[in-house]
Amino acid sequence: MNDVTLKPSQSPLKGSLNVPGDKSISHRAVMLGALANGKTRITNFLTGEDCIRTIEAFEQFGVSIIQDGSTITIESNGSEHFKEPPEPLYFGNSGTTTRLMLGILAGLPFFTTLYGDSSLARRPMDRVVEPLEKMGARLDGRSGGTYLPMGVRGGGLKGIDYTLPVKSAQVKSAVLLAGLFAEGTTRIIERTATRDHSENMLRAFGADLTEANGAIQITNKNSLTGTNVQVPGDISSAAFFITAAAIVPDSRLTLKNVGLNHSRSGIIDVLVQMGASIDITNVQTIGGEKLGDITVTYQKLKATTIEGDIIPRLIDELPIIALAATQAEGTTIIRDAEELRVKETDRIKATTEGLAKLGAKVQPREDGMVITGGATLTGGMTEAYNDHRIAMMLAIASLITKDDVVIDDISSINISYPEFFQDLKTATGNG
Ligand code: S3P
Repeated sequence: MNDVTLKPSQSPLKGSLNVPGDKSISHRAVMLGALANGKTRITNFLTGEDCIRTIEAFEQFGVSIIQDGSTITIESNGSEHFKEPPEPLYFGNSGTTTRLMLGILAGLPFFTTLYGDSSLARRPMDRVVEPLEKMGARLDGRSGGTYLPMGVRGGGLKGIDYTLPVKSAQVKSAVLLAGLFAEGTTRIIERTATRDHSENMLRAFGADLTEANGAIQITNKNSLTGTNVQVPGDISSAAFFITAAAIVPDSRLTLKNVGLNHSRSGIIDVLVQMGASIDITNVQTIGGEKLGDITVTYQKLKATTIEGDIIPRLIDELPIIALAATQAEGTTIIRDAEELRVKETDRIKATTEGLAKLGAKVQPREDGMVITGGATLTGGMTEAYNDHRIAMMLAIASLITKDDVVIDDISSINISYPEFFQDLKTATGNG
């Protein structure tokens, strides 16, 4: 069994932590490093399960990828030398691997099949299949091409003009990556900005990518050249500790070298709006990505409303923000976050059920939730639904509960933050 019983801690969080590398950037670094000609060296790579699935996919194409701790070295002669994978590609729990790889597979002139775990098999792929078919790719999967397992016969793509119907960086990235193989220009318009790591990294590898009149444009004019990538700490992992320090009295914690890309840093804006004390120092930009140190000092929080364009900037942080809201004065409303329904699990259901089991007053809404603050959390038996971010949110809750928090299964935490419990011990002085 992978269940855990967490004793209420109440210990303030002190000192500093280096959280693991950013998941989104780690995936993209491997993908572009494998597609590029020459050598790519990635440091502070996230060695969580999702990113390992991405490495394995390219190994099946015959690319040489060497892992030494969190340093990855890729030597590639470019995608023209990839070979048809002998076996189906297994993408585990990773939606990012699947959706971005579909964009690449659509461009490769051979046949691939792919599948994942039971969570991935329930996640919609039609959002990616639709634009890729418009570009000329041939894809099929369960339910008329909506779900894995899928087969892709790639090649022969043409550029398209595409307005994103969903607020999804994965869809944008899949189309951009397919654009690397397409004849002509691929143009993407997004009505709401989503994370732009693909754009930053494509530029760093020398792609012909421009932004004009609100559209992102890519051609296959330039071939990619291997480069060095330093992956910043993952703000989505730091979020658990930022929030912990914001809700456990007497805390003062610094998270070092964390990615501060504007398209990802919505949690900082929201917590500051809620009255949190957050200082950002040592800011620098590497490979188009901003990073710096985040220091959080405990201070009482007040409720807020989270809606509109900020949602994609904090979509993965909403479960932990909901926990913060249980401790704020007043009622917090989260709306326009219907995308939470199609993450690793239905995160609106999982977050509201989990917090309610711990004694919080929280109501699900179709596109978000309403959280009444000022709750004393009791503790109780909870379910993580095999979702890493739900499991970590419940574990952080145990820092402020009166009684034990039991989580049914914490193994999913290895997806994005294998060192989570070690870091929790270090920050609470129990390491
Ligand atoms: C990701 C984009 C987001 C996010 C996911 C990672 C990415 O998904 O939730 O964890 O790396 O592009 P959507 O594109 O579906 O919003």
